[in-house]
Amino acid sequence: ERVSRKHIKCRADIDMLTVPLLRIYESLIPPKEEKEKQMQLLTSLEKLVVNEWPHAHLCLFGSCANSFGVSNSDVDVCLVLRDADIDKSEILLKLAEILQSANFQNVQALTRARVPIIKLKDPVTGVSCDICINNVLAVVNTKLLRDYAQIDVRLPQLAFIVKHWAKSRGVNETYQGTLSSYAYVLMCIHFLQHRDPPILPCLQEAKIVTYQQIVDNIECAYFDQVEKLKTFGSDNKESVARLVWGFFHYWAYCHDYANTVVSVRTKNTVSKRSKDWTRRIGKDRHLICIEDPFETSHDLGRVVDKYSIKVLREEFERAATILQAYPNPCEKLFEPF
Ligand code: CTP
Ligand code: MG
Repeated sequence: ERVSRKHIKCRADIDMLTVPLLRIYESLIPPKEEKEKQMQLLTSLEKLVVNEWPHAHLCLFGSCANSFGVSNSDVDVCLVLRDADIDKSEILLKLAEILQSANFQNVQALTRARVPIIKLKDPVTGVSCDICINNVLAVVNTKLLRDYAQIDVRLPQLAFIVKHWAKSRGVNETYQGTLSSYAYVLMCIHFLQHRDPPILPCLQEAKIVTYQQIVDNIECAYFDQVEKLKTFGSDNKESVARLVWGFFHYWAYCHDYANTVVSVRTKNTVSKRSKDWTRRIGKDRHLICIEDPFETSHDLGRVVDKYSIKVLREEFERAATILQAYPNPCEKLFEPF
């Protein structure tokens, strides 16, 4: 049985940690030149692609386009082909051949993955890149994350710190049963939507829809004029340090893992029961449930198993304890595991 520490008050001097935490955040922001290198790579890839498939184009997604990218991240690229009835493996193998002849390094086609991709490294810019095909939902959810990041700077600040913590502590590895960066960012958005007063709105619940697209039979609709929401969170004066503490405290002691699903789509509480995520189906155990904002049948926590859930929860508790009790928590918090 876990001790309930739900009602613990935050340490009185918490705001003092904002300066060192923001220093870490700033050190993680990629320099301008990096963006230029990424665009250079995209341009050279696009030339090769259009040469073979004249109606195709490339889109960036993931951390290089959602504004949650730290420096030296891999670039995620989506090849968009008009024809829906394509054999993705065939296209990827063809593309791999083209890329190899164009002297890209470490070209690998992973055609059997859940999302088939090509991995490569560009010898000119030194940038590594993953290319997938027609993953338009990922392009759209990338835009949603980027739009949320515009509303209140405390979102990118919190999310960079959480991602940095997750990478340092080894809990950002989906193949080992821990969570993706994408899942962590959604957890941050959800957390900020539920502060009192809220720091972020729920864009998919806005009365006015300004962005709408149907992708893979899924309707993606929300209010995307985020420049009008710049003051949304201004009644909430919480410091970044308090939010970082609050985030870990929430996941360590307050989240109801047995019954609730984290969803940024709605401000209502979503129950596991309402989604039929209460039972184990195949490999999916739903031990921590994070709903994809558009593909709502997708639980980003489904990679988590009975061992890794323990690892995750212990890491949340460790982080909460360090932030609560250590005189100099910043170093300890990000200590390599
Ligand atoms: N994605 C998704 N569904 C998932 C995982 C990822 O749609 N289950 C898409 C999202 O668009 C996400 C992108 O793939 O933005 C990249 O995912 P991930 O590598 O988790 O996030 P990054 O933001 O690229 O993080 P990192 O900096 O760690 O590369
Ligand atoms: Mg990525």
